[in-house]
Amino acid sequence: MCAHYVKFACIFVLMFACEGILGEWTCLPDKCVKSHSVSHDWDYLQFVVQWPQSVCLQFNYTGGYDRPHHHKTKKCIIPSNIRNWTIHGTWPTKTGTLSPQCCNNSWTFTMGVIDDLVPEMNQSWPNLFVGGALGSFWCHEWGAHGTCCANLPALYGEHNYFSKTMDLRQKFDIDNILSDAGIVPSLSTRYKLTDIQQAVQNATGAIPNLSCFFLPKKKGSLQYLSEIRLCLDETFEPRDCPVHSGNSSSNTLIGCKPSVGISLPPIS
Ligand SMILES: *[C@@H]1O[C@H](CO)[C@@H](O)[C@H](O)[C@H]1NC(C)=O
Ligand SMILES: *[C@@H]1O[C@H](CO)[C@@H](O)[C@H](O)[C@H]1NC(C)=O
Ligand SMILES: *[C@@H]1O[C@H](CO)[C@@H](O)[C@H](O)[C@H]1NC(C)=O
Ligand SMILES: *[C@@H]1O[C@H](CO)[C@@H](O)[C@H](O)[C@H]1NC(C)=O
Ligand SMILES: *[C@@H]1O[C@H](CO)[C@@H](O)[C@H](O)[C@H]1NC(C)=O
Ligand SMILES: *[C@@H]1O[C@H](CO)[C@@H](O)[C@H](O)[C@H]1NC(C)=O
Ligand SMILES: *[C@@H]1O[C@H](CO)[C@@H](O)[C@H](O)[C@H]1NC(C)=O
Repeated sequence: MCAHYVKFACIFVLMFACEGILGEWTCLPDKCVKSHSVSHDWDYLQFVVQWPQSVCLQFNYTGGYDRPHHHKTKKCIIPSNIRNWTIHGTWPTKTGTLSPQCCNNSWTFTMGVIDDLVPEMNQSWPNLFVGGALGSFWCHEWGAHGTCCANLPALYGEHNYFSKTMDLRQKFDIDNILSDAGIVPSLSTRYKLTDIQQAVQNATGAIPNLSCFFLPKKKGSLQYLSEIRLCLDETFEPRDCPVHSGNSSSNTLIGCKPSVGISLPPIS
């Protein structure tokens, strides 16, 4: 009862005070406030890893327009302990859509629930966007995607969602998968999209999706690899990512051009 009033007061007074008192945050992504899926209906999981250097290059270039929820963030900085691919999140996905997202807005992110995971998450799932408190990235992934996994027992609840996702990072060692195929960070080498896809396919048995961006956004510009998305079934076994529906509005982040060489820039 008492805690309830404290929480109520906190929400309306000071988010960070709340964090101190209850370890509970309200950090609903804007998109969850605007609209949310009640349905947990999905066909497959996307386990998404990102290349920090590309994420920051893109952010610095665009000022964050590509990630509207980071508008208020001032800087993209790669912590000095980060030298590898890092986790973006696990996203349940209905084929041909970006849904479901934001499945349970009342299920707030509570830092205390994952205390034991934080040291490892700090290493494998860092927030690159300086300005947010430790945990703001995790809070976002939980609100947008984690709450939509509740119909799969292995991912039910915050602790399962984050610990299982880190297990996947161990299971699918993207750094080694790529370097074994000779795909290593380089300032000068350009890789073929099919080689990157094949390296992952040879190692996991399934075709992944890649996400790229161009700098500057015009002809003759460089293409950077920013994300690799493994598609998994509900037992976490890799499956081919579904063929593009042709509706680009449901795939705004994915923009690799197969005919253009892809750069994997070294972390600076
Ligand atoms: C991005 O900009 C920040 C300063 O806001 C800088 O410290 C960082 O090195 C830049 N990162 C890249 C990859 O350009
Ligand atoms: C997370 O890592 C940074 C180094 O990037 C370190 O300064 C910080 O203390 C760590 N925080 C936790 C909670 O482990
Ligand atoms: C990066 O990944 C490599 C290959 O899996 C691993 O040996 C190394 O410990 C990782 N380094 C960091 C800083 O996570
Ligand atoms: C929604 O979240 C609440 C906790 O706030 C939880 O008790 C409830 O089971 C969740 N509902 C679904 C459908 O996951
Ligand atoms: C993937 O495996 C095929 C068949 O064994 C081989 O020809 C190809 O070179 C491999 N590609 C990569 C990038 O490892
Ligand atoms: C995901 O990968 C599949 C298999 O290569 C491809 O057909 C599809 O177009 C990709 N989807 C997107 C959105 O790029
Ligand atoms: C593409 O997706 C959008 C949003 O889901 C939808 O409004 C639109 O009708 C779709 N267009 C086609 C050609 O399927």
